[in-house]
Amino acid sequence: MDSIKAPRGTRDILGEESWKWARVLSVCREVAEDFGYREVILPIFEHTELFSRGIGDATDVVEKEMYTFLDRGDRSITLRPELTASMMRSYLEHDMRRGPQPVKLWSAGPMFRYERPQKGRYRQFTQVDFEVIGVMSPLADLESIDAAMEIYRRLGLTNLEVLINSVGCPACRPVYRDALRGYLAERLGDMCETCQARFSRNPLRILDCKKPDCKALTEDAPGMTGSLCAECGAHFGQVMSGLAGIGAAARVDNRLVRGLDYYTKTAFEVLAGELGSQNAVCGGGRYDNLAESIGGPHVPGVGFASGIERVVLTLEGQGVSLGDEPRTEIYVIAASGETAMEAASIAHELRVAGLSADMDFTGRGIKAQMKTASSLGVSFVCIIGDDELNAGTVSIKNMASGEQISAPRGEMTKRILAWKESGINA
Ligand code: HAM
Repeated sequence: MDSIKAPRGTRDILGEESWKWARVLSVCREVAEDFGYREVILPIFEHTELFSRGIGDATDVVEKEMYTFLDRGDRSITLRPELTASMMRSYLEHDMRRGPQPVKLWSAGPMFRYERPQKGRYRQFTQVDFEVIGVMSPLADLESIDAAMEIYRRLGLTNLEVLINSVGCPACRPVYRDALRGYLAERLGDMCETCQARFSRNPLRILDCKKPDCKALTEDAPGMTGSLCAECGAHFGQVMSGLAGIGAAARVDNRLVRGLDYYTKTAFEVLAGELGSQNAVCGGGRYDNLAESIGGPHVPGVGFASGIERVVLTLEGQGVSLGDEPRTEIYVIAASGETAMEAASIAHELRVAGLSADMDFTGRGIKAQMKTASSLGVSFVCIIGDDELNAGTVSIKNMASGEQISAPRGEMTKRILAWKESGINA
């Protein structure tokens, strides 16, 4: 029988890597707290309608990529492909409109999209998502971009490029759509099938096609920023001058349309060259009509999500160190079978004192246990043999200096803590 492997597009994040994730997520949490976001923990599955209405029926995510199934009660359920729609649902469901606005929420967790897996693109991936809900102000757009960049700055990432665009609003987008269709009509015959299919339903998405021929044909297409209504134009201008004010470099990219239909006005992405073709570490923007499309009142919002896999890949690609992998401080060695229980009691005492300790469970010889201690990179080894047991002592070895002392059992923890504090084990 073949052994069972993890499904395509999923991966196990093993010990060598998982501690880096913990660091990245803790930086995200710190930034969230410093910017005044509160954490929400949302369901991993939702009613399918939330996404088909929220993200839009004609998007790739809804049309081709959702993990959708009927549950045992015949309800259509979807594993969340993103968090923004769920965030807005939660805001509406808990009537957060009644409190002071905006409401700033953040969350992190697994998302699911049935995409073609490749480097940096998975079917299960992890996003950290920040949303500012309930205000129209361009200050919120500016702060969203700043929060994303602050995460990367604190992590030590460099050479990131912020792309920004405005995708307008229901007042100005149809005007632009018509102008774009006018431009595309005579070139459509030479474009790929997907672009041809998008022409009538969603021509803006043609600008997002990655095929070189289609890209070349849209090179000189008119940009949305030229067709913005007065309100969208002013909003975009304020976001841009705010970015200049905080010294954040952002390049206006007229082709940036994003793959989710809820966007209005500001749309942005943060790119990292190290990632290859899947080069966005972050995507975001404003979504002033999302609440209405899922059955709520008019509630504006803006936010972003960043893929943790891609952040970790970029950190590795740029050779940024996240410090050292956390390691166990003390290995407790039982020098004979008779002392194993005492070793367990020593390990217990050390952990209660706030130290990290590990020991052998398999009755191996002292040499083998010493080898394990070295390979774990512990700072101290506590040895308990028959002599120590009879004398009521413990031998403590400082692995960095090689020094070994004998301490009364009752003073062992105190001695180790003092040693640790003095930094001798550094
Ligand atoms: P998105 O651009 O679809 O936007 O995804 C945001 C980020 O999630 C991407 O930039 C990328 O880092 C990561 N990501 C997306 N798909 C995958 C994948 N298959 N494998 C690995 N990483 C992936 C959204 O999801 C919006 N909800 C963002 C947002 C928040 N807009 C407003 N608020």
